[in-house]
Amino acid sequence: MDTWDPALYQEKHAFVWKYGQELVGLLEPRPGERILDVGCGPGQLTAQIAAAGAEVTGIDNSAAMVAEARKNYPALHFEEVDASRMKYDREFHAVFSNAALHWIRDAGAAASGMARALLPGGRLAVELGGKGNVEQLQDAIARALAGFRIKTPESPWFYPGIGEYASMLERHGLEVNSAALFDRPTPLPGGLGDWIAMFGGRILAVVGAERREAFIRQVEENAKPALWRDGEWLADYRRLRITAKKG
Ligand code: BEZ
Repeated sequence: MDTWDPALYQEKHAFVWKYGQELVGLLEPRPGERILDVGCGPGQLTAQIAAAGAEVTGIDNSAAMVAEARKNYPALHFEEVDASRMKYDREFHAVFSNAALHWIRDAGAAASGMARALLPGGRLAVELGGKGNVEQLQDAIARALAGFRIKTPESPWFYPGIGEYASMLERHGLEVNSAALFDRPTPLPGGLGDWIAMFGGRILAVVGAERREAFIRQVEENAKPALWRDGEWLADYRRLRITAKKG
């Protein structure tokens, strides 16, 4: 089921693509290059890559996000594709992905698809949630669910460490050039409630509409000591950023 809400994403979660601009710098897109943007969302970073003169294909698993991206950037090319099932074969000079790969449960299939999509000598520049990502936030949610006597749903997210992700890329024929795992405490303009509404659809579904507000208040109470700083909510994001090359 497509639970993505492009309006809420663009209104309250623009920080996702704003932080991703640094990764576009690492990608160094050049005029005339063909570049694949995996998990492009509403397309802001796809457009920045295109602005460098590259020919970009933005893909996303969410029909709603692809529709929004097409609306935002009608001149660019977007496709609704599941990154663990992509079939591109030696078509791109570079593959880029920001804040998307941690959503893909079959990470091996996504790595294999990205490697296959690259031309020989092609580059990969990706950033995703890394080992330890949103640990405090998830803990606050799990404790609130336990208080409501609800079993925590299986996590939809995959947060690998450097060794795990780099080895996986190597197994698919990529040479890892740089890897970093770092904290990025991220202010949430819409607070924890909007973050959960945006990304925790499955959790809210099990909580139910009538208990939603009480549940969010409980998550806030649980999270406050760790995630409330100087009058704003922070997400305890940790990023894994990797660049690699196909031999
Ligand atoms: C992240 O970007 O790390 C993230 C976003 C939504 C849910 C979980 C993690």
